[in-house]
Amino acid sequence: MGTRRRRVSVIYFIAKLVKWDDLLMEIINNPTQVEIMKAAQALKEGHLVAFPTETVYGLGADATNEKAVSRVYSVKARPTDHPLIVHISSINLLDKWAVDVPEYAIKLAEEFWPGPMTLILKRSEIAKDFITGGQDTVALRIPSEPISAKLISEFEKMGGVGIAAPSANRFGAVSATTAKAVKLGLSRYLEKNDKILDGGLCEIGLESTIVSCISMCPEILRPGKISRIQIEQVTKLKSPIRARNSNLKFSGDKLKHYSPRAEVVINESAKPGDAFFALAEIPTPTGAVRLGSPETVDDFARKLYEVMRLCDEKEIARIVIIVGQTSSMFEAINDRLKRASHSGLL
Ligand code: TXA
Ligand code: MG
Repeated sequence: MGTRRRRVSVIYFIAKLVKWDDLLMEIINNPTQVEIMKAAQALKEGHLVAFPTETVYGLGADATNEKAVSRVYSVKARPTDHPLIVHISSINLLDKWAVDVPEYAIKLAEEFWPGPMTLILKRSEIAKDFITGGQDTVALRIPSEPISAKLISEFEKMGGVGIAAPSANRFGAVSATTAKAVKLGLSRYLEKNDKILDGGLCEIGLESTIVSCISMCPEILRPGKISRIQIEQVTKLKSPIRARNSNLKFSGDKLKHYSPRAEVVINESAKPGDAFFALAEIPTPTGAVRLGSPETVDDFARKLYEVMRLCDEKEIARIVIIVGQTSSMFEAINDRLKRASHSGLL
């Protein structure tokens, strides 16, 4: 080994020891086209790239590279039977990954892609067991956020066919909606040639709506920004939200999901010292530590995971969250909060 390479290895070893994260992997703020191309190249070479999407940050790997995908599982500490979403750039790639795509799924794809919706379809032969967790279906999504869109198309120009990307957080933890959150949660497990692309706070802040398209009608496996009503309007089909406890594996089928360390309490009165999060119109209870005053439901969703993380950062033991309204976005928020609180109160 040359002197220079030895020196780099020693620095790397020390950085790992003292958890000097910025030296361990590259964090790129507002990446340029060239930096995005380099990130796509890194993916092609089997490295991992965390990137922003309009929903949450994803931890990306080449969806056809078993070794790279297995690193995603180990970095996240996620059970290998928990399948991944494959991110593609164009509706034309549907047939590469899926077979027997029903008419209503095409309608949904044409209406809501690029955007915060994932479709579950019968898999083609390139969707291997290491992506689908052994199921004969595959999850597909075209994100709209510009950095992710460019990354995927650059990757495809280099011969890639899809980027597998779960949310960029440790298994069971709150999804990352900022690059800082990705770094805090995962940098210890990432390697020198991995990258984090920083595109700021995610616009939506909750994971995509997951729609299963393997029966006669769509079925919503995870509520999100695209609502049941929107799905029914486009497909003209009844699209129930699946109750939990099914034997299909999807996000949130384990109750302890999206959880911060703090206890999450919903719609109860806050005690002095509790963290507090509610719409701006709701006054702060005496002695509570207010962590945000979103003006709208969308803003509430965008900030929710950051607020939960902030609560952990400030080492506050309990957070009271007031979910006072009913709207389709609150359906998604309620779903995440139920899991975060384990209370089943909502
Ligand atoms: O918004 C999102 O969907 C983000 C961004 C990065 O795209 N991704 C995300 O991935 O939330 P993840 O892995 O954290 O959650 C996706 C869920 C997984 O929990 C998995 O169970 C489910 O999608 N899923 C994947 N493939 C599936 C399949 N074939 N059948 C049923 N559920 C599936
Ligand atoms: Mg996740």
